[in-house]
This record gives sequence, C-alpha cells and structure tokens, in this order.
Amino acid sequence: MSHGLLASRSALPRKVLAGVVLTVGIFVPAWAGAAGAASPAPVRYLPHLKVWILDTERTSYVLGLNERNELQSLYWGEKLASERDLFAAHSRPGIASFDSSETVTNNEYPGWGGRYYNEPALKVTLADGVRDLVLKYVSQEIRGDTLVIRLKDIQYDLFVNLTYTVFPREDIIRKQAEIQNHTSQALNVESAQSGVWYMPVGEGYRLTYLTGRWAGETQLTREPINPGKVVLESRRGNTSHQLNPWFAIDVGGAADEEHGRVWFGALGWSGNWKLVVEDTPAAHQVRVTGGYNDFDFSWPLKPGENLSTPPYYGGFSSQGFGEASRLLHRFERDEVLPDRAHPHVRPVLYNSWEATEFDVNEPSQKSLAEKAAKLGVELFVMDDGWFGQRNNDRAGLGDWTVNRQKFPNGLGPLISYVNGLGMDFGLWFEPEMVNPDSDLYRQHPDWAMNFPGRPRSEARNQLVLNMARDDVKEYVFHALDQVLSENNIEYIKWDMNRHFSEPGWPEVPVPEQKGIWVKYVRNVYEIIDRLRAKHPNLEIESCSGGGGRVDLGILERVNEVWTSDNTEAFDRLRIQEGFSFAYAPKIMSAWVTDVPNMNGRSTPLKFRFLVAMQGALGIGANLNKWSPEDFALATQMVSTYKSIRETVQQGDLYRLFSPREGNLTANEYVSADGKQAVLFGFLHSQQFLWPAPMIYLRGLEENALYRIKTIDNKLIVAPGIYAAEGVSGAYLMHHGLRLDLRGDYDSSLVILERTK
Ligand code: DGJ
Repeated sequence: MSHGLLASRSALPRKVLAGVVLTVGIFVPAWAGAAGAASPAPVRYLPHLKVWILDTERTSYVLGLNERNELQSLYWGEKLASERDLFAAHSRPGIASFDSSETVTNNEYPGWGGRYYNEPALKVTLADGVRDLVLKYVSQEIRGDTLVIRLKDIQYDLFVNLTYTVFPREDIIRKQAEIQNHTSQALNVESAQSGVWYMPVGEGYRLTYLTGRWAGETQLTREPINPGKVVLESRRGNTSHQLNPWFAIDVGGAADEEHGRVWFGALGWSGNWKLVVEDTPAAHQVRVTGGYNDFDFSWPLKPGENLSTPPYYGGFSSQGFGEASRLLHRFERDEVLPDRAHPHVRPVLYNSWEATEFDVNEPSQKSLAEKAAKLGVELFVMDDGWFGQRNNDRAGLGDWTVNRQKFPNGLGPLISYVNGLGMDFGLWFEPEMVNPDSDLYRQHPDWAMNFPGRPRSEARNQLVLNMARDDVKEYVFHALDQVLSENNIEYIKWDMNRHFSEPGWPEVPVPEQKGIWVKYVRNVYEIIDRLRAKHPNLEIESCSGGGGRVDLGILERVNEVWTSDNTEAFDRLRIQEGFSFAYAPKIMSAWVTDVPNMNGRSTPLKFRFLVAMQGALGIGANLNKWSPEDFALATQMVSTYKSIRETVQQGDLYRLFSPREGNLTANEYVSADGKQAVLFGFLHSQQFLWPAPMIYLRGLEENALYRIKTIDNKLIVAPGIYAAEGVSGAYLMHHGLRLDLRGDYDSSLVILERTK
C-alpha cells in the first residue's frame, strides 16, 4: 500500500523549498516542545520543515505547509518513532489538465475555489458575487495540547481558525473550524465543514457505518469504498435513526475485532450533519469530510461575525475494531460526558411507559414504585402522560403543567413517596414539540415551524416548535425550569418524537431563514446547559423515539441515551452491538420489558435481564403482571448487576461473538483496574444438538489468577476449576471457556474476580 507521507519522501528535498513566503511570521512559544525532548509535547512545530506533529500515546497526525503555502495533511496512523522520519510537505503534481495539483493534493481545509474539485470544507459567496475561495496559511499558535492554525483567503479578509485538540490517552484528535468575516460587507456561507480526515493513499478500503430506522437503530453496515462518494447524512433536523454520524475505515476487510488498522471518526452535532466518504477517481485520495449538512444550508455572516462548526473527532487503532471502540468509549467517559470529571455509575431505573402508557396517576405510579423499590431500583421515572390534557398522543404537548385529574395535589406527593422508598424521581418531557390540541398552540400557532400559508404536516399528531426562535427557547427553558424548581426531580428524559417538516422561520429576513437548522440545535443545547447549570444534580436521558438523537454533541450534555424503542431482547443484541461500535455501554440505556414483544417474540426473563445488563440497566415491564418467581429472579439479577455494573459501565468491552455472524453472542467486560471481568453468553437458537463454541476471553493478565462465579450451572468446567486460588488468565484466554447453552434464547453470565 502506498503511504501518503512516505510516498512523497524520495521525490522531495528534505529542506523547506525556497521561495515560500509566509504572510505572517510563525510564533512558536518556548513551551511548544522541542524535537528530541525527553517527553515531547503532544503538539510540536518543526520550523525547519514547516511541519506540525500531533502525537497521542500510540498515533501521530502530521500536517505541513507546502510550497504553495497551503496546509496539507501528511500522515495519520501509528505513532512515528522519530521526527527524523518527517519531511516537508510538497503538493502532488496534477494529472493532465483535468485533475489539478490542488485537487490531487491532500488539502487539510480546502475552500471551494480555483481548480479544486473534491468535496470542499468551505464554500462562500462574497458580497460582490465572488464565489472563489482559496485559503492559505497565515499563522499558528500552540497551547499545550491544542494547535490553532489560521488561514485566510488570498484576497479577501475571510479567515478560518482551525483548532486541533489532542487527547493522548484515547488516541483521538478533535478538529473544529471557525469562519471569520473580517471584510467590510456581509458574506454568505454555503457549506461549513469541520474538516477532512485523509486515509493513506490506497485502494480497497472498506467503510463501516451505522444505519437503521425507528425500532431498528445502529445496524452495523459494511461496504467497499469505490471511486466516487458515499454520503452519510441527516436532513431531518436531529441526528436521526437512519444514519449516525460515525464511521470506521479499514483496508479491504483486513481488520477484525482484534487486528488491523482502523481509522474512525465522529461528529458532535445533533442537527443536520453530513459525512462525505470520497475516493477520488484520479488519485485515490480516500477522505472523509464532515460538518454541517450543506443541504438547505445558508449562513449569512455580517462583518465581524464568526461561524463555528461542530467538533469532528478522529482516531486510529492498530488493533482492530475492538480497540477502536474501546478508545471511543474511554474518550466519551473521560472527555465528553457531563460526569467526565467525576464519573459515577448509572442507577438502575424503572420507567412506567410500557406498563401504563398515558394512563398515569398518583395511585398507580405509587403502586409501581413500591414494586420497583423492592427489586432494588434506584431511580423511578414517570414517562409520558402526566401533564396538560395528555390522555393520548393527540393532545397536551407544550402544556408543561401537571394534570390535576391525575395528580390532584401536584407531583409532590408521588415524588415524596418515591423518595421515601429510597429512590430518586425522574420525569419525561418532550420540550420541542406541540400538539395542535394544546393551550400553547392555541396561544402561539406561529411558534410551530411553518411556511406561511402552507400545510403543516403532523407526525404523531404533533408539530415541531421553532426552537431557533429565542422567545420559544425562553418559554421552553422556563417551563422546564419551573417544574424542576418546584419538585425534587433528579432526572429528565428529554424526548423528540418526530423530525422536522416545513422548516420555515418567517420572522427573520429571508437570507437568515435557512439558519433554522443550526440555530435550533444551538438553542436546544443552550436550554440543556442552562438547566444543568441551575440544577446541578440534574441528570438527563436523550431520547428521540428511541435512538434518534445519539451523537457526541448531545453526549456533552446528557448522561445516557435511550437506545431504541425496540426492547425485544433478541433484536437488542444487534442494536446494542452496532451501538457499541461508536458509543460506550455506560450511556446505553437498556430495559427489561414484557413478552411477547416486537416480532411477536418471547424470550425468558433471564435472557432479557442479561441482554439489558450489558448497558445501563432499566426495567420497563408492567410489574403488576409479574409472578412471585419473576420478582425473585429480577431481584437477584438487579443485585448481581450492581456487583458488576462498574465493570460494565466503566470497563473495557471485548465483543467475542457477534450476533450478526453466528448462533452465539458473547461479550466480555474487564474492569478498569483489571480486578473483575464478566462474560455474557447468549445462544440464539440451537439446532441438531450442536454445542455452543468455546469462548476465548480477552484483556486478562496471563499470569493472574481469577476466581470464577456463575449465576447458574452453565459453565462446562474442567475438574477443579473452581479451586479457591482461581484459574490463570492464560487458561481463560487460550484454552477458553464453554457454556452449556441449550435450546432457544438460553443465556449465562460468568463473573471472574482476580485473586492475585
Ligand atoms: C418515545 C420514547 O422512545 C418512549 O420510550 C416513550 O417515552 C414515548 N416516546 C412516550 O411518548
């Protein structure tokens, strides 16, 4: 395989080419780190080469200025051992008159202008009608683990600040761009991308991504990358169930769970986003551009105004998809989630939705709460139906006042009761929505997104509030703040049960109206941020009819996400597997619900528990229908979960057997301190008396001893394996374990405690 940086090595002089003129001198602070220092800083500039190197613990990302003073991507992959291996950037020669040098060179942040034909990072129309943008380097600044590179158009005072932040432990780099209008007139931004990630020049790459639908989210999908473009995007206003802003790329399927080079990336944006995976036909540049979706996008920038793009993360693993996921999980836990500074485990929750739907009232919720408390539940969440005239999905959204027929004395008595049972209380909201049959809509029909005089398409009998409007934002903030201020509510489930339609914003001048897509999301973020600031103990679950709003933008603000409305345990194995490629088990809310469930399928309660115990465990069943045996099993499972949840939520996940590939699903979690490992095994459907295959554990210490505990008698063991001193990590990883799983939907859990 040809390699971007090294391929250019022989052809290029080692010294910077003469004649390169920098428009502004390079400022390198003393603390930027020097070549050869004992512990080099994560971001270094090598002035003699005009090259920047961004190092994580195991990877390097290299940028340089070429002879045209363009910022050029040079390398992304395994850590480079020595700065002696670095060379100055040089453009690649064009191909005939059709593929310019500018096009075939890996421009780090290409404007659409000159002879540039690949997906651009930035496209603008200037006040005088000029639509040509050629960005060149101006200056740089290094601040610890952050690099800011400033670009400018060759003529106009249009600047772009590119900010790179290095996360060494997780091998992840964040890119973000800020477009600044320092001209004296307004200009219009037509495409604003956060950046481009380049793979080494090559062929035969494979794309892995997540697709889906309502009740079928995060389906792992794979296809070869061929010349042309694959566009992954949302045009629906939120992140979407259909596609998720995450990708991974390996070479021709050379990588598996444990081996091979995998490049991956994700956008932190909960609105219209776009990832363009491109293999350029002329030069086989494999590049992934990501940022705001430019479909129906337009953002006027007045003089002095800026537009910043969403964070765009990239990472690299030389140990396959398993390690790529573990890096992302660690990154989310340590750098993204609201509790990143002081991580704490997710509580076991009960949610009333599938038991009662809209039929909530004080006595029935109290009765469910009593039963939930006995199971060991720690957080009781009342779902939809508690407010306004919300007796079904045709009315009430927007009216966030307690329904006094259902709760004559407000929520206070129920919450006190729940608290008295030793549980926190959580409440459901759908803040961005309004039913036409609501007081809010009758008072403010103009607050719903609309194009004047045009139909307003309803979905689930509701319209989308135009959250881009600041008056709507203030209403929603104060409505939620009031409920939270008057009640002891520790948790809200923030739902969104439809996508945008007719996204009009008639109150602002026409050139600003397309800004609705971005302003809406920014205002949603702002409301959440303000609520959290005012109610510091508040935790939030992001839900959009299941997993429609899961991305690294919302995850800065919420503690967990609702993975899918599909709680059928066998389907869940695949949804959860796909989810785990991009997102940490800790944030994956997973409930045990009743059977028969989706697909008309019934699985045993134990199977349902073990599936849900692989994330943040919840119970969503109708406890009024459970038998004493169900309660006994559930109580035991909740207690077992509490003994392993730190490992599941904060540990490392090893996907051992995929539900996509065979008849067995097996996942192992190893605690951060290595003292505990847990193995979940699920047999889908046994045929011909075939035994379940041997399971080889991962991530253990070869010479350490592990004591084995099971919740059943399903471990097929060698005599003496339960010996007090335990079994070696080597045995568990090389010899392996086998579970005696039989019939349909059998399952087991094995817990390993390191003894020494
Ligand atoms: C959709 C969510 O995904 C469900 O869990 C539930 O909260 C309903 N909305 C309530 O309307």
